[in-house]
Amino acid sequence: MDVVFVEDYEAMSRRAAEIVAGQIRQKPDSVLGLATGSTPLGLYHLLCRWYAAGRLDFSAVTTFNLDEYIGLSPTHPQSYHAFMQKHLFSKVNLCPVRCFLPDGMAGDVLAEAGRYDARIEAAGGIDLQVLGIGRNGHIGFNEPDDHFAVRTHRAYLSDDTIKANARFFPRLADVPREAISVGMGAIMKAQRVVLLASGPDKAEAVHRAVCGVVTPRVPASILQLHRAATVLVDADAAALVPEKWRHAGRIHIG
Ligand code: F6R
Repeated sequence: MDVVFVEDYEAMSRRAAEIVAGQIRQKPDSVLGLATGSTPLGLYHLLCRWYAAGRLDFSAVTTFNLDEYIGLSPTHPQSYHAFMQKHLFSKVNLCPVRCFLPDGMAGDVLAEAGRYDARIEAAGGIDLQVLGIGRNGHIGFNEPDDHFAVRTHRAYLSDDTIKANARFFPRLADVPREAISVGMGAIMKAQRVVLLASGPDKAEAVHRAVCGVVTPRVPASILQLHRAATVLVDADAAALVPEKWRHAGRIHIG
């Protein structure tokens, strides 16, 4: 795991966009794993800008999002389908038939989860996985648990995640309690992983994921075992990482 310290949200977003753009330039038919949430908004904004400026071509790219709420249709404004449409898909030349998210309306969640894993495998796996991190250390909707879920699965959102996501819904009661989430198998098999973390409310999670033991109680900690994981943290999110870690060799100041 490489931990790259950058100054602020803008620098984190730029660094992430350079990594994604480099991936697409090097392999135009890349398979990208994508996240939603507030953290990657700056990254998506830059990718859209660079596409508009003729600097990027998404025509051969395939995308797989990490998750979708169970019970929200793609047209629901808070669905992750709608989020991706708004912030990326509608603004670049991604081919719609190659943009995948789990179907939150699937009658049989288990079957949908199996289909999603099979699609990822048929695409050759993920080349570059973009991740955010929850305040409790979750990645995708892999919540703290006593085991790591390997396959795509029905995820039960923790109280903390429900509270954090309430900012997007009119009332706390409206926040879905369940989601379909990619498991650790697809994430750990990705050729490269980039986790983004910004802001003081991520400091505890970053500290535990980067400096703590590898445990399903802190799902992101599994990335310590990934052969090509980069954690891009801004100063606020890195606040609890001890100074000596910044000279540990595998950690870089960006
Ligand atoms: C979203 C996802 C989540 C978020 C995490 C952080 O697809 O998988 O793991 O990355 O909840 O969300 P933000 O960025 O809103 O703080």
